Amino acid sequence: MALILLLQRFYYLAFGWPEKSLSTDIALITGGGNGLGRLLALRLCKMGAKIVIWDINKAGINKTVQMLEELGGYCKGYVVDISKREEVYKAAEDVKRDVGDINLLINNAGVVSGFNLLDTPDHLIERSFNVNVMAHFWTTKAFLPKMIENENGHIVTIASMAGHVGINKLVDYSASKFAAVGFDEALRLELEVLGHNNIKTTCICPFFIQQTGMFDNVWARATPLACASAFLKCIVPDAAPQSRPQKSILNMATNAAIASRVNVMSTFKDNLSPLTNASSLLIQRSSSLGERVL
Ligand SMILES: NC(=O)c1ccc[n+]([C@@H]2O[C@H](COP(=O)([O-])OP(=O)(O)OC[C@H]3O[C@@H](n4cnc5c(N)ncnc54)[C@H](O)[C@@H]3O)[C@@H](O)[C@H]2O)c1
Repeated sequence: MALILLLQRFYYLAFGWPEKSLSTDIALITGGGNGLGRLLALRLCKMGAKIVIWDINKAGINKTVQMLEELGGYCKGYVVDISKREEVYKAAEDVKRDVGDINLLINNAGVVSGFNLLDTPDHLIERSFNVNVMAHFWTTKAFLPKMIENENGHIVTIASMAGHVGINKLVDYSASKFAAVGFDEALRLELEVLGHNNIKTTCICPFFIQQTGMFDNVWARATPLACASAFLKCIVPDAAPQSRPQKSILNMATNAAIASRVNVMSTFKDNLSPLTNASSLLIQRSSSLGERVL
């Protein structure tokens, strides 16, 4: 028996650990009709999860649903404007009725205005906050109670490096992403204090990524595919091969940005546990259950 286990161990070390099946999981991804949301949907679908996507772009939703169905997966899309609280609550009821209880909520949808502050129309500033952070309150309030009841849940915040470093022409975006980072941190602590040990949170803060459409005119960028893979390794580490951590473009890009925030990062590094080394990204995993991926 010991010999079999030893051989199995060598096999896994050589060829990577078997991926965990997510066949009992139901993941909801906001902004799943394009960019990173679609890539995350594809990857989670391949891992066996049922996927629900919300987006305002019907054509984008249809494309994602079609791609996932061609893979033989399950994907249901809803047109939802997540900046509207009542729409979120109504769609959440529809999802519970049509699909079931969400146990992985990925707050991914985001918008950017991209003007100097004084040139940014008021409604775009409000939109940035409504989509990039306020929506996280509505989706979390809609799905967290069942996660607590079922003792199984994971709430993921796709924030940004601009949620740690202020950036020119991104004043509203940066401010909203700082708020999203704060949302994750406070929620994580609150869940810990309340003893909800089965609910995890993850906050992912990517640097600029090319080709999703959001920051295509920004020079320093990583690739969406590399990012989606890296995100997945952080969201479900036990569903990703552990043996050969890869240095991704994203890692290099984020490290460059991190260099300008040495104080923040040294705090993060103090909190790193050996577990986090499996990822190609830097993760803050505090004594609570959550983690932060930069
Ligand atoms: N692309 C980058 O360089 C980059 C860098 C750092 C962080 N991020 C963050 O990653 C996330 C995904 O970005 P992306 O590059 O895939 O963007 P994207 O523009 O390709 O996709 C965003 C999706 O959100 C949807 N959306 C926008 N407003 C919505 C609303 N009110 N209701 C529902 N859906 C809405 C859009 O229709 C779109 O499908 C965002 O939160 C973004 O801020 C992106």
